[in-house]
Amino acid sequence: MAKEIRSRVFSGIQPSGNVHLGNYLGAIKGWVQRQSEKDNFFCIVDLHALTVPNDPKQLNTQTRELSAMLFACGLEPEKCTVFIQSHVACHSEGAWILNCITPLGWLERMTQYKDKSKGKNSISTGLLDYPVLMAADILLYDANEVPVGEDQKQHVELARDIALRFNSLYDSDLIVPEPVIPAVGARVMGLDNPLVKMSKTYSNVRGHAIGLLDEDKEIDRSIKRAVTDSGNEIRFSDAIESAGVNNLLSIYRVITQKTEIEIESEFANARGYGDLKKRVSEVIIEELNPIKDKYNRLMSDVGELDRLLSSGAQKAEEISRARLNKIKQTIGLVLPKN
Ligand code: AMP
Ligand code: TRP
Repeated sequence: MAKEIRSRVFSGIQPSGNVHLGNYLGAIKGWVQRQSEKDNFFCIVDLHALTVPNDPKQLNTQTRELSAMLFACGLEPEKCTVFIQSHVACHSEGAWILNCITPLGWLERMTQYKDKSKGKNSISTGLLDYPVLMAADILLYDANEVPVGEDQKQHVELARDIALRFNSLYDSDLIVPEPVIPAVGARVMGLDNPLVKMSKTYSNVRGHAIGLLDEDKEIDRSIKRAVTDSGNEIRFSDAIESAGVNNLLSIYRVITQKTEIEIESEFANARGYGDLKKRVSEVIIEELNPIKDKYNRLMSDVGELDRLLSSGAQKAEEISRARLNKIKQTIGLVLPKN
């Protein structure tokens, strides 16, 4: 029987700040659900985190915490490859080579670079070069799908342009990747302000986000205090005034996987938003409890986490090394004999 050809998926997540419900429902939960369908690589991009000033101790802790959290959320090493970017040297090597064919103007046009550098009198070269490292991440794995948030679409498009340019300059067949943006509804808004995305930037503002490690009581309190409106209709809606209720309903929908119609009929006889908040808080707590348990187990078993990460890095190294060697040969570098 012919071997089934599975799509290769590559995505990355930065080890910056605590993982919140938006990251989980908008990205990680989807990765977990689809991990058996495709050939997935999930990378903790610690080298990307270096592009802005960092506290070494904090970076180290956050990298381990995020790694444990991804496994705790349900990524299984038998089904997908989870690894730390700096464990596989091919990413840095590949980025250097791609740097040398990427016009500077392409990088200067990136909106994230413009936003992050605005008003600063000193920024790192790494900040400008960030998308080339991201292109190396993707292209070294021959990934055809790259699930990312809307804000990263321009970077994936740059990776496409770099692949096309490389293929036209050399006799090469780099795969040109496609960004995959999650369906609407996976955008979790701030509980204190449903008009802004739940974000790590405000995660120290009380009542804004739910951290995946928050205590049950804290979760309950955050949901109880979530901004709604003065009405009592429990319906999905795009109206700005209903953004808070819509956010709670969307969270409920993504967790329970029920349809909008099922959910609206479930709450048809509710006595106001109190009932909705109670159910939302219950399902979040139910969803997060096993994650917290598994996370705590992994964080207390250093050896197990290291083993998982080193087996991920080994698989990643195999795939990316083969592609990197091909790239090196194509451009005329002499490969070492061994
Ligand atoms: P970040 O926290 O910006 O590094 O994002 C990590 C991943 O989580 C990306 O895939 C984002 O698109 C996703 N993400 C971040 N915040 C949210 C949110 N509020 N709702 C849905 N997805 C999010
Ligand atoms: N730049 C992405 C972000 O900040 C993270 C990232 C790095 C990434 N390398 C990647 C995402 C490769 C997808 C593919 O969210």
